[in-house]
Amino acid sequence: MRAVVVEKPGPADSLSVTEKPAPAPGPGEISVDVAYAGVGFVDTLFRAGAFELPLPFVPGIEATGHVREAGPGVTGFEPGAPVGVLLNDFGRGPRAGGYAEVAVAHASMATVLPADADLARMCALLINGVTGWLALHDLARVTDRDTVLVLGAGGGLGSITGRLAAAHGVRRVVGVFGSEARKPAGGGEWTDMVLAADLASVVAEITGADGGGGVDVVIDPVGGDLRTRAFDLLAPFGRQVVVGNASGQDPALSGDAVWLHSRQLLGLSLGGVAHAVPEQVGAALSAVVDLVHRGVVREPAPAVLPLDRAAEVHAALENRTAPAKTVLAVR
Ligand SMILES: NC(=O)c1ccc[n+]([C@@H]2O[C@H](COP(=O)([O-])OP(=O)(O)OC[C@H]3O[C@@H](n4cnc5c(N)ncnc54)[C@H](OP(=O)(O)O)[C@@H]3O)[C@@H](O)[C@H]2O)c1
Repeated sequence: MRAVVVEKPGPADSLSVTEKPAPAPGPGEISVDVAYAGVGFVDTLFRAGAFELPLPFVPGIEATGHVREAGPGVTGFEPGAPVGVLLNDFGRGPRAGGYAEVAVAHASMATVLPADADLARMCALLINGVTGWLALHDLARVTDRDTVLVLGAGGGLGSITGRLAAAHGVRRVVGVFGSEARKPAGGGEWTDMVLAADLASVVAEITGADGGGGVDVVIDPVGGDLRTRAFDLLAPFGRQVVVGNASGQDPALSGDAVWLHSRQLLGLSLGGVAHAVPEQVGAALSAVVDLVHRGVVREPAPAVLPLDRAAEVHAALENRTAPAKTVLAVR
């Protein structure tokens, strides 16, 4: 099969397509004829060696396609059925493998998709949709009275999380963007769009007009000084969920600030816990797929590039010029 392989950690242009044997499913697993493989910022971290996988490996932690074969003990996945799979159950051992014509997933990390599903659109929301859903509902326990602030709102994880919060009917969903160019035309689902540089003044204006004393929930895939600046904007009992670190900077946060301001600091790394909570992951996956398929969440079509342009997508993610989401067309 054709696959993108990382032989050793390196820059984006070290990614290229090669031929290798197709993997077969073991007990509890399915193999998938991959139609689309999603690309996210985290893939660049694996490729560069910031997060380690045994070498050589095929990157890619989400894919859609059709069931090729079900391994021993697996039921409910008929060959040919359209399917979406998460490939980041690292708690079970090394996985990834999406940038390839055939990928193997654990059945608990797979969902059969509606027959008429748009496989490119569905691929774009798998990892980020499940992470955003779990962050909003299982960790922040968001309510319709909450003002939700999303950092990195122009990125893959930030944008779907904003759409999921809006679909839940929160009071306000405020997106934080690094530049005017990153703001979606027409505003998308955001009630307010804020430039990172203006964060404190604009949020004070918004929450002041609401009669509140800050934001209730911060979803934080960015880190750096935005993380601490957003933390300072939390209302009493406010929750900040750390889901990533696209800035590469991890500032210290004070325990006293959590204590004395009655705030909550939470974290979620889907890849580290997915194998331990398969029901939660499965429920989130079904919920997000259903919302998008029914059009309740209007997931925009992702950019689609062929498999052999994976390096280009990695470079764009690293220099912050990538569209909100790109998927690789594999077949
Ligand atoms: N918890 C999980 O299980 C999970 C799941 C998926 C992703 N993640 C993590 O979430 C993060 C985002 O992933 P993604 O795929 O959404 O990436 P992405 O599409 O590249 O989006 C990242 C966003 O962060 C902002 N950003 C990047 N560098 C920044 C900097 N130096 N300072 C301020 N803002 C910066 C960018 O916004 P502007 O350019 O507008 O500033 C961009 O919108 C990554 O760390 C990834 O590993 C975690």
